[in-house]
This record gives sequence, C-alpha cells and structure tokens, in this order.
Amino acid sequence: MDNKSSLVQWGSRWAFVLAASGSAIGLGNIWKFPYIMGKNGGAAFVLIYLLCMVIISMPIMMSEIILGRMGKRSPINTMRNIVHAENASGFWKIIGWMGLLTGVLILSYYSVIAGWTIFYSMQTISGGLSGLTPGEVGDNFANFISNPTYTLICHSLFMLATILIIARGVNRGIELAVRILMPILFITLLILMCYSIATADFSSAWRFMFAFDLSKVTGAVIVDAIGHAFFTLSLGMGAILMYGAYLPKHVSVVKTSAMVITADTLIALIAGLTIFPIVFAYGLEPGAGPGLIFVTLPIAFAQMTGGSVFGGIFFVLLLFAAWTSALSLLEPAVAWLTESKNMTRKKAAWITGLFIWLVGLLTVMSFSSWAFEFNFLGVKKTNGLFDMFDILTSNITLPLGGILMALFVGWVVSEASTKDQLALESRVYKLWQFAVRFISPIAIAIVLYFLVFGSL
Ligand code: TRP
Repeated sequence: MDNKSSLVQWGSRWAFVLAASGSAIGLGNIWKFPYIMGKNGGAAFVLIYLLCMVIISMPIMMSEIILGRMGKRSPINTMRNIVHAENASGFWKIIGWMGLLTGVLILSYYSVIAGWTIFYSMQTISGGLSGLTPGEVGDNFANFISNPTYTLICHSLFMLATILIIARGVNRGIELAVRILMPILFITLLILMCYSIATADFSSAWRFMFAFDLSKVTGAVIVDAIGHAFFTLSLGMGAILMYGAYLPKHVSVVKTSAMVITADTLIALIAGLTIFPIVFAYGLEPGAGPGLIFVTLPIAFAQMTGGSVFGGIFFVLLLFAAWTSALSLLEPAVAWLTESKNMTRKKAAWITGLFIWLVGLLTVMSFSSWAFEFNFLGVKKTNGLFDMFDILTSNITLPLGGILMALFVGWVVSEASTKDQLALESRVYKLWQFAVRFISPIAIAIVLYFLVFGSL
C-alpha cells in the first residue's frame, strides 16, 4: 500500500463545497431537470425527487466523501488502499475500475452536448435566432446537430477548456475555476429568474411546478426521480469520492453534503422558474422533452425583446455549469495516471483528454451519418451510440456503482472507521448506517431493475 497522506488538499472547506457543487450542477440541472419535471407532471415529481435526495442520495454522497478521505487517492487506488486496510475482498476494487470507465464514457458524450451550448450562445448573442419562426428554430437545431463539422469544433473546444484546467492541478486549476465560475453562475441565474418572473407568465409556471397532483405519481415517475437524484449529484462513479480525497479531516461530512445538495436543488428549481414562465408566456409546450432548452426556449428567445441578450447569457451559464461538471469527470482518471504511471499531471491530462475526445467522435457522428434507431423499453431511440452510452452509464453503471459503494461502506468498512470519519452523534450515525445498509441499496436496486428490464 502506498503512503496515505494525500499530496494535495483544498484550500478551504468552501473550495470543496464549490467544487462538488460545480460537479453536481450541470446539464442535469438546467437541461434535464426541467424537462423530466415537465414530462412527469411538475410538483408531484419535485416532491418525490426532494425525498429521494434526502433519504437516498445524501447517505451515498456522505459515503463517497468518506471513502475518498479514507483512501486519499484516485478512486482506483483509494479502493485498493481501503480494501487492504480493512482486509476486505478484492472484489470491491471493481468500484474504482467501473468508475474510471464510466467517467470516460460520460465525459465523451457530455462534452458533445456541452459543445452545443457554445454554438448556441454565440448564435443567440449574435442575433442569429431573432425573428425566426418556430419551424425555423426547429430546423436550425436539427441542421446544427447533424452537421459534424460544427459539432466537432464545439466538442473540441469544450474538451480543450476542460483539459487546460485539469492540467493546472487541483488548487490552481479546479479550485480557481470554481471560485470564479460558481458565484457567477448562481448570481446571474438568479437575475435571469427575476427577469423571467417579472416579465413572463409566472403564475402558470408556479402552478405547473408546484400544484400537487397525486394522480400523476406513477411507478415511472418514481423511477425517474430516484435516477435523477442520483445523476444530478454526480454519484456512483467516484467523482465525489475523488473530491473527498482532497478534503481535510476536520471538515464535517454531513454539513458539506447538505450544502452541496441544497445548492444543487436550488439551481434546478431556479432553472425551472427561469424557463417555464417564458415557455408559458409564449404558449409553448412545457413537456417537450430534451428539446426544451434547444428548441422550445429559443422559439421564445426569437420573439422576446432582448431575447438575444437573455438567451445568450442563458447559454453561457449552461456552458459554465457543464464545464465545472466536466472537471470532475476528468479528474479521477488523470489523478490515477499521475499516481500509478508516474506521469506528470500535464501529460496525464492531455493523454486522457485526447482519448476521451476521440471517443466523443462516436457521439458527434451519432447525430448524423452514424445515427441508427433502436428500441429501449418501448421508447424509440434515434441517436445510436450516443443513446447507448447514455443508457449504459445513467441507467446501469452509475446506479450499480452507487449500490456497491453503499454496501461497501455500510457492511464491509469497519464501524470504527466510519464513526471516526463521520464524527456523528450515535443516533444520527445509526440513521445513516441504516440508510446505506438498507434504504439506498434497495431503492437503487429497484430502479436499476426497472431501468434495465422495464417493469417490476
Ligand atoms: N451531475 C452532473 C449534471 O447534473 C453530471 C455529472 C458530472 C455526473 N459528474 C458526474 C454524473 C459524475 C454522474 C457522475 O449534469
């Protein structure tokens, strides 16, 4: 086992909270949350989602942080260290390896979608959308994503921006980036929300988001809520574990987890309160699905006074959110190469980044010549490999990683170690332990089953 003192640490507890929030807050919050909420009937979904965050995601987030702090290395070496120290079976090392592959795969397609926001922010700011009819806005999107030249340039720019930050290291790279980007994201999104509430149809949006209709709560809604509560917090692949490895020992795991979860939830709700008033004011469809941000919203921007400024800022914020998430997807693989292969961080960042960029080409082409259709659980998927990567990660390896981490921390790691890490009052500790031993694994197992086999 290698020497366990971590080489780097966050400059402060806030740096960790910002970095983990940066990881959590991403396309999932601004792009995915509003549209799955729109699809699942609004308030009922939000309520279940909040419940899942507290009883399922929070215990797992705490577990990931604890693991990182115990092993003080990249997920792969952290798991190796802990398995060794706790005398556990080598099987559990799979958590680290699966996480590595999952991170590479997610970043490869995440970067392509994030790249779209680069194009959209430039197009919107330059007034390229203004005056277009709804039909033209739709064509504009379809033409853009099926043009591999444009999407490839955007994907490359986004990967470059991610590599450059990671190459600078934890303190001069990630920490510096999140200290600048996260406050901008928070404050500017708040301003957009106020503008949207004041000028567009707030009451319809409010009713849509918060009017509670129990009849809308089906099994599928619950499955979506648990799945999203998981994805949005970046759990299950070791991203949070990695950031936890840089966290000093005296910092409270419960408090920092609660802060990250609150920030993530707030941003998702603020995004909804920014988007839906506009959607309703222009008589558009709130349940449009993935096109909500790239088609529905631009239709409104095209007609709104000041739409190019508002829209431009909106897409830049989406880009910032995606960028800080991408950092946490790249960091574990890079840290692993520097630890195990004796590489400089710079070299590791470039090698990993270029490899992921290459895998990303498969997603780029999934929207044009390599597109193919397939059916997944009765839903027609039209973008071949991209859809497959998304299903493989969001529906399979992330939940699986989450279950394994919960079981490992709950049953395998000694109580003495987890008690020492959490430093909780014994009743609260028992509650957490019950959650990671039973509630989280069972809930996620049910969802996993549903996501893979389609019915219970
Ligand atoms: N949480 C991010 C979002 O909401 C996505 C993300 C970043 C992620 N890192 C991750 C998801 C690690 C799973 C695992 O957009």
